[in-house]
Amino acid sequence: MNIGEFAALARARSTNMSVKHDEPVPRETVAALCELAQCAPNHKRTWPWQFALADVEGDRDGRVRLGNVIADAMERNGDSPEKVAKQRVKYLRTPATLIVGSAAGDSELRTAENRDAVAAGVQNILLAATAQGLASYWSSCPRGANDATASLCGFDPGTTVVAIIYLGWVADTLLPPARPPVRLRIIR
Ligand SMILES: Cc1cc2nc3c(=O)[nH]c(=O)nc-3n(C[C@H](O)[C@H](O)[C@H](O)COP(=O)(O)O)c2cc1C
Repeated sequence: MNIGEFAALARARSTNMSVKHDEPVPRETVAALCELAQCAPNHKRTWPWQFALADVEGDRDGRVRLGNVIADAMERNGDSPEKVAKQRVKYLRTPATLIVGSAAGDSELRTAENRDAVAAGVQNILLAATAQGLASYWSSCPRGANDATASLCGFDPGTTVVAIIYLGWVADTLLPPARPPVRLRIIR
């Protein structure tokens, strides 16, 4: 790949939830995305990535379970009934939802560095998804729902949920928002 091709890929990525609802995302495809996430730089090689996939298979729908677990946490937290009800069905909007967590480190600094590494890995996921025609949408874990989500996912205790990523095959391509001009300061 040359720089022009990489630039085109980076510029083509956008937050997009316009997907083909009846076309599942194969689990091997998601596993391959996770492998690429782990190519991101990681100080002290702590390997903090934690992954869980919510999708649908037969009558078992992990996306519904995920929505309910988060909605229940939001309810306990005092969120409005409307918001809670919306949350319950949120993940049905795409065929697959990938949850990415970052394990705690042995110090505050290491925990922060772990999260930086995981966030860098999430960008690898989004770019790799874009490259193969998968729409992706990075969303945060709702306030107060981290621990319930991490527990549902089977993540290590103390893990921070960094991203809940909606995935599906692109139906409509969206234009990414315009970026501000780069301000590169030179230190002399
Ligand atoms: C750490 C992080 C958390 C995000 N959380 C949310 C979210 O909870 N809900 C949402 O609608 N978008 C979320 N986004 C997506 C951003 O809103 C989106 O990237 C931004 O609008 C720029 O659009 P683009 O991704 O198409 O360039 C998140 C993005 C990042 C990096």
